[in-house]
Amino acid sequence: MRKIIFFILFINGSFIGFAQNYEVKVDSLMNLMTLQEKIGQTVMYSGRWDQTGPIVGTDNGKYIREGNLGAMLNAFSVKGTRDLQKIAVEETRLGIPLLFGYDVIHGHRTIFPINLGLSASWDLKMVEESSRIAAEEASAEGLHWTFAPMVDLSREPRWGRISEGAGEDVYLGSEIAKAYVKGFQGDDLSKPNTILACAKHYVAYGAAQAGRDYHTVNMGEGELRNVYLPPFKAAVDAGVETFMSAFNELNGVPTSGNKFTLRDILREEWGFEGFVVSDYTSINELVPHGFAKDSIDAARIGMNAGVDMDMVGKLYHHFLEDLVKEGKVPEAYVNDACRRILLAKFKLGLFDNPYRYINEERENTTKYKPEFLDKAREIAAASSVLLQNKNEALPLSKDIKKIAFIGPLVKDEYDIIGNWAAKGDRKGKAVSVYEGISEYLNPNQILYAKGCEILKDDDSGFEEAISISEQADAIVLVMGEGHHMSGEAASRTNLKIPGIQPELIKKIREANPNKKITLVLMNGRPLNLSNEVDLVDAILEIWFPGTMGGAATADLLFGEVNPSGKLTVTFPRNVGQVPIYYNMKNTGRPIPEDNPKEDYKSNYIDVPNTTLFAFGHGLSYTTFTYSDFRISSQTLNPNGTIEASVTVTNSGNRDGHEIVQLYIHDKVASVTRPVKELKGFQKLALKKGESKTVTFKISVEDLKFYNSEMKYGVEPGEFEIAIAPSSDFRFKHTFNVLD
Ligand code: NOJ
Repeated sequence: MRKIIFFILFINGSFIGFAQNYEVKVDSLMNLMTLQEKIGQTVMYSGRWDQTGPIVGTDNGKYIREGNLGAMLNAFSVKGTRDLQKIAVEETRLGIPLLFGYDVIHGHRTIFPINLGLSASWDLKMVEESSRIAAEEASAEGLHWTFAPMVDLSREPRWGRISEGAGEDVYLGSEIAKAYVKGFQGDDLSKPNTILACAKHYVAYGAAQAGRDYHTVNMGEGELRNVYLPPFKAAVDAGVETFMSAFNELNGVPTSGNKFTLRDILREEWGFEGFVVSDYTSINELVPHGFAKDSIDAARIGMNAGVDMDMVGKLYHHFLEDLVKEGKVPEAYVNDACRRILLAKFKLGLFDNPYRYINEERENTTKYKPEFLDKAREIAAASSVLLQNKNEALPLSKDIKKIAFIGPLVKDEYDIIGNWAAKGDRKGKAVSVYEGISEYLNPNQILYAKGCEILKDDDSGFEEAISISEQADAIVLVMGEGHHMSGEAASRTNLKIPGIQPELIKKIREANPNKKITLVLMNGRPLNLSNEVDLVDAILEIWFPGTMGGAATADLLFGEVNPSGKLTVTFPRNVGQVPIYYNMKNTGRPIPEDNPKEDYKSNYIDVPNTTLFAFGHGLSYTTFTYSDFRISSQTLNPNGTIEASVTVTNSGNRDGHEIVQLYIHDKVASVTRPVKELKGFQKLALKKGESKTVTFKISVEDLKFYNSEMKYGVEPGEFEIAIAPSSDFRFKHTFNVLD
């Protein structure tokens, strides 16, 4: 440590004083570094065997000592990080500390709902709070950096990673991206409880063909700029420190070798100053993509395109020095990459004290704090979506004599925390639905049968399940996907509830034609529930709700908490409709409202164009009425604003929360615009009988888009506008944007 301070303050024997800012300190340090040491900063290896891919480098101690390693993935815990950090600080020439990164995606120990679920809360404060808690816990175990948030917008339920994002909408996704960054990074990175965030996967990964992971993406630049880039730009605006380049190719150019997206857009247009890390071997994968002829070529392309750090690929480590010496990679690129990485280390305070995140007491006292668990319970409840509630099946009364709980996920404490659950314990910590309902019911009120497994084809448990359903006064089915069925490398071509679970639902309904049946769903993507909507009364979508998921689910089932979540992604009627999303284009042959089946219109002959559950949909145990829509002016001047408002009344019998949504439609433009676009939302708390007026301000900034020449602006003309409870409505009001 002393060694490093000495170097920073004395350059070439002369005292440069207490440097004013980090940039100066970085430059001073870099003056002392050899090319090989600079390249060392751009290299990341993994701390251990890792589920997401093969380990490429295992000899980490040696690499660190040689000055060939700047960051580690999958190394955490006070002990693990201290051992490695000690080598870097005490046994290398310049003592530059290591950076420790990890996938802290929806919680570190205390696990929150999967990100798609969390987005359904439409609650930016909750998103920020959850990532703040994740940063507290992760930093207490030696981590400096999370590979989150994933801000990939996706309209592809077949793609398993739709579970990691914030759904299908540009505006909501961008707001959520900012909230995550704020939560992870806090307001001061030098505090030991804040960590670097990473906007990933740059870019358009969520549009993989046919929903197959790592697959090709072809899209026009207009779509890229209007739909897929904005959440990344929002992350930059929120001050995100790092980016991750993706696995997919984009219009023939893999995104980890894509100068256009990495240098022209990210650096030049947006002015991003942090560093870019590759995804796991994504530079190596330029070879099988057919974009680089061999590994050396891939290293050249990666660095030249603007990828600053090589995640476990070994390429920069082995080939970059020669590539620079041969003039194939400008040394300036390596200097820039090294500078950015060192800057992040300075900002984290690692040069003041490389062990500042390594503290036994914090490690022992930070995880699973009671207040974190309370928050996780609150957030899990707010993230669940009541999709259907026929015959007022929910909430359940605590006085019902007997309730049958059936399904492979009733007692689950393993899948409930979802995929990418960092260090969340899959045994002994998470509250199952069974434990949750046990807070509300006496043991003699509860009947339980597993019925079947999620995926196995064995119906030997059906008989018992049907038998207890017949003895019960109400039935709750807890079913869905296993946690490994969403996330990375978990694409599906079938969106039905997996295995023989649907058969069991059918049999239980047949045996109980008049009983109220609730289906509680745990899953990581929109499912095809076309059969189930007719077989059950209520459907409660809880996603993978996290450590306190079972308790939160019980709170909702028994009405202790009123459901308030709304979908951030469309639920299709079947897989053939995919991709289907609320902000599609009208086409030249839209279906007539009064005759959706008309021939030679843009429809299907077998299934309606409509969704099963629309973006923005979600029910409550109370009802909300929208009235008195007003707009402050019919015309919007280029420099002005107008206000649109509506009165929302809680017209039911319980207090509740309503997510009020603002949509617009640009009717005619030089490039066609979506039929609807979300432009604002507010989450209102309304006591029963209470009314509130919700007002949205609209300026031309909200109406801008990229035209066919990639110019960003607004085009004058007529716009439709609505304030609605979901995207499933028809516009009735308009305003004009003036020249
Ligand atoms: C691959 C995944 O695509 C990425 O999201 C993750 O951060 C890295 N592996 C590191 O685990």
